[in-house]
Amino acid sequence: MMIEHPGFVLWMTGLSGAGKTTLALALEKELRARGVRLERLDGDTVREGLTRDLGFSKEDRDKNIERVSFVAKLLSRNHVAVIASFISPYAAMREFVRKETTNFLEVYVDAPLEECERRDVKGWYAKARAGQVKNFTGIDDPYEAPENAEIHIRTDLYSIDECVAQILESLEERQFIPAVTA
Ligand code: ADX
Repeated sequence: MMIEHPGFVLWMTGLSGAGKTTLALALEKELRARGVRLERLDGDTVREGLTRDLGFSKEDRDKNIERVSFVAKLLSRNHVAVIASFISPYAAMREFVRKETTNFLEVYVDAPLEECERRDVKGWYAKARAGQVKNFTGIDDPYEAPENAEIHIRTDLYSIDECVAQILESLEERQFIPAVTA
């Protein structure tokens, strides 16, 4: 059974390898089990479809986020929850999404660069260090860490389950989803 909710946007920002997609998938599973109507938008897949013409210059990253924001706006205002996972390195663009969408929550998925690099899930950091990839976020391209994120998650200190619980709690507190009583 689906539940009613006001529509909201969980905007996960963070370095590559910080755990945005992993967290988004785990959250999707839990929220679906609770009957929350949602759509998940992820950098790697959105860039294969909606924004496949774009690269990683500042201009292109801004366009990427602007298009995603448009989709998130349409969904969130129609009571579809959005779980978005994009590096979204520029604070100004994240503020743009905040203004455009309904019930925007910035989730800073935080792990130190050294930890992301150690994980190197997709092998990008090794390539960036070797100079085979240019303008890689955190290496030779900026990441503007959020200063006032609604939710700050440390994936190097807590398990995925703990991080998911922290986010769910935040959604319950704001009454975006009903609290689950044991
Ligand atoms: S964003 O900066 O425009 O928000 P987005 O989240 O969509 O980035 O895409 C990031 C993904 O693209 C990374 O997880 C990685 O797999 C890939 N990627 C390829 N080149 C780069 C790069 N130069 N910087 C960051 N990510 C890159």
